[in-house]
Amino acid sequence: MAYETIIVEIEDEVALIRLNRPEALNALNSALVRELAGALTDADRNDKVRAIVLTGSEKAFAAGADIKEMSQKSFVDVYSQDMFGTEIKVIEGIRKPIIAAVSGYALGGGCELAMICDFIIAAENAKFGQPEINLGVIAGIGGTQRLTRFVGKSKAMDMHLTGRFMDAAEAERSGLVSRVVPTAKLIPEAMAAARKIAEKSQVSVKAAKEAVNRAYETTMAEGILFERRNFHALFSTEDQKEGMAAFLEKREPQFRDR
Ligand code: CAA
Repeated sequence: MAYETIIVEIEDEVALIRLNRPEALNALNSALVRELAGALTDADRNDKVRAIVLTGSEKAFAAGADIKEMSQKSFVDVYSQDMFGTEIKVIEGIRKPIIAAVSGYALGGGCELAMICDFIIAAENAKFGQPEINLGVIAGIGGTQRLTRFVGKSKAMDMHLTGRFMDAAEAERSGLVSRVVPTAKLIPEAMAAARKIAEKSQVSVKAAKEAVNRAYETTMAEGILFERRNFHALFSTEDQKEGMAAFLEKREPQFRDR
């Protein structure tokens, strides 16, 4: 499939999706968001894909929503179109794991897009920020909610109210990213993590993703019950028998996603 604003490659059962608008530091315009939602949906349905890596360029993961495209829009325009609403719901609904591999700027909608992914691996040069306040608006793709859950109220308020950027070390310290790697190693590290996930039983991968995400949507007791029932349910799979037998027989498991 040919895209104008992204590049999709499939390698070793991992879909690598690169945001590709270098002239605008991968700013999220409507075409990019539409193409990205389409490519992720295709990857989710493609049996040859077992994990997804989303990245940008070395200079920018994405510098936010496209300010040129938005600047002249009225309230009625953005409200009627529900700007970003439809596509972002599609991206939030992807069931396969998505790793954000962030190098350079992840600002505004770029930071929010990275946070929608299941985890973030950052290059040493990564910079995260929610600078919408400088434009007379606020975050619009979940930044006030997700960043607060990741880093707590004080840091989230600081970022949203002052518009300051956070470097990779601070992002790791604050729990926004899972690991920081040398900039040149970002894609190999993210692909290796994705391949590791691809080796697992995809039934338990999906169950783990659903259960962790539940932590953001429900009470502790309900979340723990959801987890325990799904843990129980996985005993109905062939992969549970295989995984435990392989451990006891001191060999690698051969999962069949059944
Ligand atoms: N939208 C449109 N174009 C953008 C852009 C954006 N968000 N960010 C950068 N660009 C464009 C610049 O206009 C410039 O284009 P021209 O060469 O045609 O002038 C090109 O990308 C390169 O950018 P700079 O020259 O500014 O590069 P720099 O290295 O000097 O600065 C930067 C980099 C600090 C990231 C700076 O570009 C910047 O501050 N960008 C805007 C960041 C921002 O405010 N993001 C929030 C957007 S609103 C949002 O995201 C709302 C939401 O939550 C949904």
